[in-house]
Amino acid sequence: MEVLSTIADFRAARAKLGTLGLVPTMGALHEGHLGLVRAAKARCAAVAATIFVNPLQFGPNEDFSRYPRTLPNDLKLLEAEGVDLVFTPTVDVLYPAGFASRIEVGPIADRLEGAVRPGHFAGVATVVAKLFAITRPDVAFFGQKDVQQTVVIRRMVADLDVDVAISVEPTAREADGLARSSRNIYLDAGQRAQAPALYRALMAADSAWASGERNGDVLRDMMREIVEAQTDGVIDYVSFADPVALEEIDRAGHAGGVLSLAVRFGTTRLLDNHILS
Ligand code: PAJ
Repeated sequence: MEVLSTIADFRAARAKLGTLGLVPTMGALHEGHLGLVRAAKARCAAVAATIFVNPLQFGPNEDFSRYPRTLPNDLKLLEAEGVDLVFTPTVDVLYPAGFASRIEVGPIADRLEGAVRPGHFAGVATVVAKLFAITRPDVAFFGQKDVQQTVVIRRMVADLDVDVAISVEPTAREADGLARSSRNIYLDAGQRAQAPALYRALMAADSAWASGERNGDVLRDMMREIVEAQTDGVIDYVSFADPVALEEIDRAGHAGGVLSLAVRFGTTRLLDNHILS
């Protein structure tokens, strides 16, 4: 496995490889990330991962400086999965003095996570576009866990005619249903015990859907009530939205949608989602 931290070095190493699968990450790797790596290994002759905590996607009061950084362990995990190349740029490599451009993806970036985190998805779209330009992958792998991110990246790729296939992989979960996340380590024991309520809320709405419930307000209220009854968390949003525009769905005449929710436990925000179809 080659670990490269400059653009020129990465490009030179990439040029020797054929079909490339890319797994962009911010490090602090866990089973969720490794599932993406395994999916890439299964589909592509060579696999690259990127590890970069992207300041552009963090708000001024967010956890950029305390985001977990575990590079030596991350590299061990990637090596064990048989990854070929790892790109580990510094902030100065991706954002040198004078850097000024942003990719804005329109209204889908302003809903849900975007409403709580202004500018977040412009930061994500911009860094992903840069990583695509540097690594030139054939297929890029993203997790369903961050569903709005996948919608934003698909929009960016379609709008800018980026020649990269996007593959979205299922959410990896703990045994009790909690979606794996680098931020779960911030939860104290009490919060950790309550956190699976997000998944239970999604599953309750899924059961209601399976029994024929189609009213978006009923599905959203059901999720909200479960989180409120079973946790001390503060709900940022509960949503049942169409999978392309991410607009809230009210009632009949739809074939399905995305259930999603974000809940704050102290300063730690947990996200989860589930597709109904
Ligand atoms: P990060 O949070 O490190 O996640 C990297 C990738 O792993 C994303 O595609 C994310 O959706 C996926 N992932 C995280 N937890 C997962 C889980 N439990 N199951 C399946 N996939 C999971 O997302 C980012 O980094 C950044 O925004 C990035 C795309 C790298 C741009 O900076």
